[in-house]
Amino acid sequence: MKHIDVKKLLDGSLVGQSVTVCGWVRTYRDSKNMAFLELNDGTSLKHLQIVIDKVVTVGYENCSALGCAIKAEGTLVAAAKGDGVEVNAARLTLLGECPLDYPLQKKRHTMEYLRTIPHLRVRTNTFNAMLRVRSVLSNAIHKYFQDNNYVYVHTPIITGSDCEGAGEIFHVTTHGWNDGCKTQEEYNVTDFFGQKAGLTVSGQLEGEMAAMAMGKIYTFGPTFRAENSNTTRHAAEFWQIEPEIAFAELPDLIEIAEELIKFIINAVLTDCAEEIKFFDERFEKGLTDKLRRIVDSEFKVLDYTEAIELLKKADKQFSYPVEWGCDLQTEHERYLTEEVFNRPVFVTNYPKDIKSFYMKQNPDGKTVAATDLLVPGIGEIIGGSEREADIVKLTQAMEQRGMNFADYESYMALRKFGSCPHSGFGLGLERILLYVTGLGNIRDVQLFPRTVGDLK
Ligand code: 4AD
Ligand code: MG
Repeated sequence: MKHIDVKKLLDGSLVGQSVTVCGWVRTYRDSKNMAFLELNDGTSLKHLQIVIDKVVTVGYENCSALGCAIKAEGTLVAAAKGDGVEVNAARLTLLGECPLDYPLQKKRHTMEYLRTIPHLRVRTNTFNAMLRVRSVLSNAIHKYFQDNNYVYVHTPIITGSDCEGAGEIFHVTTHGWNDGCKTQEEYNVTDFFGQKAGLTVSGQLEGEMAAMAMGKIYTFGPTFRAENSNTTRHAAEFWQIEPEIAFAELPDLIEIAEELIKFIINAVLTDCAEEIKFFDERFEKGLTDKLRRIVDSEFKVLDYTEAIELLKKADKQFSYPVEWGCDLQTEHERYLTEEVFNRPVFVTNYPKDIKSFYMKQNPDGKTVAATDLLVPGIGEIIGGSEREADIVKLTQAMEQRGMNFADYESYMALRKFGSCPHSGFGLGLERILLYVTGLGNIRDVQLFPRTVGDLK
């Protein structure tokens, strides 16, 4: 079906030409001799106005229903009123009707209601804008890494190990529900892989293996967590970007993370100016300025121990008490990044007992060379660390956590064959998207969110 994108028509370069455009009717305004409809085909947040002259335009009578799919043929002209362009229609053809029980009638629906119709909410302006920002952000992430000599690797989705050690793995099995195995062991060995298997929580461990040959790699794919936390920031399925860099220590990692975040925000400001303006007006006043400031600011680097002191001194009642050794809760993270520094903050050198087994142990014996990047309004968007390259220390950390060595044999082998200092982090795509759009709930930055108790 030959037709031209609305985005292309809106750039004005085809004024005066005969054009064909396809899309869905978003508004229809009728008057005595004329009618005006606005068409959207998804290529642009802005709609294209189609002008109907009831004497001249053929077939318009069938094309007035909100949501119907049509083809419009006519001449692209400069708009009669204001800037921009419109199409003087010669012929409209109905491609798909849309009856009156179409749920997206002309009013502003709540985000809660839209979550009940994920198959249709993509047709709203909010989702049109969000999906384009998500796409541009993803492209910018690839660009940053590709331009800096990283290799994009695809780590497996089905895995036998739990990278984060938090026991949040979704099991993968072909066993029937009543296969009658007497023990867990029997259940595992008779299963598809002959061992227990699950969906990956992180591509890091395999990413490290690739980095020990390719030097700089990144993953960009779905990860899964059976976390029973019903919050606005946790999804059971989310996309993670995980660079892993050989010959890099914690300060190098922090530099890379800051550069990446600035690069991708800049790309969104440039390529999605209209979408960001929309979110600024509808969801977060001052969003554009906030994003510009991020690009120009220097992120704060704050030692965990100092963070605890600041929290203890805070003139504020927290629900979770603060003591050296505690994990930072979202309320603590937000206090630091919003109220104390009002900019992104890398917290570094966390107590080893609250972090994962693979993090490099610092000489103090108490902390690890880890960092989380916290941002105002959200909290953590990145978690990463330098990796423990010393096999003795790694073994101790695994023993302390009661881990099963058989599951991590190849990971340990990395420390034997040409081990080197290396570091990596995980950036949550949905978390950065929340930050960049001002949308308040992770369920609204995914096409089909998967959260506890909800699989539409
Ligand atoms: O801090 P996390 O658990 O770190 C890792 O998985 C490391 N293996 C990463 C690495 O070093 N390669 O997760 C990393 C990021 C978090 O900072 C957050 O942005 C996101 O992943 N994330 C989630 N996003 C949405 N829903 C969830 N349930 C998430 N859990 C983590
Ligand atoms: Mg984390």
